[in-house]
Amino acid sequence: MKRSVIDTVDLSKEEVQGLLDTAMDIIADPAKYAHACAGKKLATLFFEPSTRTRMSFEAAMYELGGNVISMTDAGTSSATKGETVADTVKVVSNYVDIIAQRHPKAGAALVSAVNAQIPVINAGDGGHCHPTQTFADLLTIYREYGKMDGLTIGFCGDLLYGRTVHSLMSAMARYEDTKFVLISPDELKVPRHLIDDVVTPNSIPCEETASLEDALPKLDVLYMTRIQKERFDDIEQYERLKSSYVLDAEKMKLAKPDCIVMHPLPRVDEIAVEVDEDPRARYFEQTYNGKIMRMALILKLLGDQDPAHTYPGGPFSLWNEAMEDNAYRCTNPKCICAAERSIRHKYYVAKNGSKRCVYCEQ
Ligand code: CP
Repeated sequence: MKRSVIDTVDLSKEEVQGLLDTAMDIIADPAKYAHACAGKKLATLFFEPSTRTRMSFEAAMYELGGNVISMTDAGTSSATKGETVADTVKVVSNYVDIIAQRHPKAGAALVSAVNAQIPVINAGDGGHCHPTQTFADLLTIYREYGKMDGLTIGFCGDLLYGRTVHSLMSAMARYEDTKFVLISPDELKVPRHLIDDVVTPNSIPCEETASLEDALPKLDVLYMTRIQKERFDDIEQYERLKSSYVLDAEKMKLAKPDCIVMHPLPRVDEIAVEVDEDPRARYFEQTYNGKIMRMALILKLLGDQDPAHTYPGGPFSLWNEAMEDNAYRCTNPKCICAAERSIRHKYYVAKNGSKRCVYCEQ
């Protein structure tokens, strides 16, 4: 089992700073890195649609002098014949040096990480985590403020299913004097485990509100998100909630002069196109920063001198402490455990004493 990244907290805070430093160096002198991965191959295994993440991973590997093979659509792969994620990555491990994988089920990236012989990077697993989007987000914040401490971040929209929110909250919780404002309808509040495992243990001041207008004047960063239609079981609920928040030029008047607006994209209608002209909009810069941070992460994982190392605290390290007993079954229908019968259900004991599935953390 090689070192893999399921969430940002699979790297230490110092390692994340190392990625930011490498990224700044790549921006300053891209030619220095043009052959850094010569002779290496990346596989992008995308069981779920993507524009930014897959294409920026591929651009990142090419800009490092490496090569890419790609599965862009699960529908053209042997997944349609019933091949499991575990078997797929055991096979693909024979072809490439590193895998970036996206899958609609929470925990699929961990299944791959523990079955592949090469590093696996989670490029999004259901509504669970999306660490490389978070690395893009962190670089965007770092380039803006030149620091990570002392910032108030407002997350707005679908905080229940928005995996980019979950990963960014976990990442920002490690910096000093971070404050969160969580802006969502009641039905789309962040999962309880994030409050129990991230907000409470780190004593992060955290306000929950349904009002974007009330929150805006307090924020250094507004992180808008799309309502994730594909994760809803009840389409009527989606229709009712889909336009809960629309950021427009009028609302931007309530924001601080230096409050940046971020969004992982794609957007639907939650940011009016007129906001693109606002000098505080950063969502297209995020996509560039994503490519640079993916370059930095590929370099780190392929160059890791201690490839079996796991940083304690992240989902990847949870595997080592996970337990099995015959009575335990994960019941989350959005978990990889529900999709593949061959998965060995395993749990860890959370800080509050409850049993949590090691794959989906629910
Ligand atoms: N932000 C993001 O993950 O975009 P894609 O779904 O296009 O990869």
